[in-house]
Amino acid sequence: MWGGRTGALLRVWGLWPAGVLGRRPLSCNAASLAGSNSPQCWNCGGPGGPMRGDGFFCPQCRALQPPDPTRDYFSLMDCNRAFRVDTAKLQTRYQDLQRLVHPDFFSQRSQTEKDFSEKHSTLVNDAYKTLLAPLSRGLYLLKLHGVEIPEGTDYEMDRQFLMEIMEINEKLAEAQSEAAVKEIESVVRAKQNELTDNVSRAFEQDDMEKAKEMLTKMRYFSNVEENIKLKKIPLQ
Ligand SMILES: *[C@@H]1O[C@H](CO)[C@@H](O)[C@H](O)[C@H]1NC(C)=O
Ligand SMILES: [Zn+2]
Repeated sequence: MWGGRTGALLRVWGLWPAGVLGRRPLSCNAASLAGSNSPQCWNCGGPGGPMRGDGFFCPQCRALQPPDPTRDYFSLMDCNRAFRVDTAKLQTRYQDLQRLVHPDFFSQRSQTEKDFSEKHSTLVNDAYKTLLAPLSRGLYLLKLHGVEIPEGTDYEMDRQFLMEIMEINEKLAEAQSEAAVKEIESVVRAKQNELTDNVSRAFEQDDMEKAKEMLTKMRYFSNVEENIKLKKIPLQ
């Protein structure tokens, strides 16, 4: 019960809990605009553009096409470009895409298609991982709005907040029992939930400064969460 859950979640499809495997509507949201400006088919020279259908395979020769570099993660995963996503639909989309592009299905195909399938599969994994967790999703969305938070800066954090983080880390360092660690963990989780709500509201109000501030706080708490994981290892 200690740790390891996230890694398992992200392993190749096939390990999904039974409930997620049922067929559901394909998309998170509206119809996909996949490949709307992609070039001609590399294999047969067939038409690109809106004729491309799902954007992954040539409608004429069915050859796998290269990833569209102009496509962002939200578009790839068929989600509105917004902070709120339906994670169940995100998972379904992830599985459906891996069923299309996973390298296992290309072992009998040309080297070009094998290479494209590797690229697609990696991209789909990255997109899924990024959009699944609120912190990485928020940072990605902020980046699409042209705002980045550089690593390792104490971006205008007030003293009171930094003290709060320091105190939690101290408590964690002093914790002697599983119960004590769990208590700290639940405090941090409650904070993360509150911050997730605040980030959500900030994006809905197009307040990028607020979103940036709340995401910076989330990143601090996420570092605390990493410390909690490390602390758990010897307690196992
Ligand atoms: C979340 O937003 C509420 C309302 O604006 C605010 O009172 C609260 O301090 C915020 N939470 C954090 C952790 O910054
Ligand atoms: Zn073709």
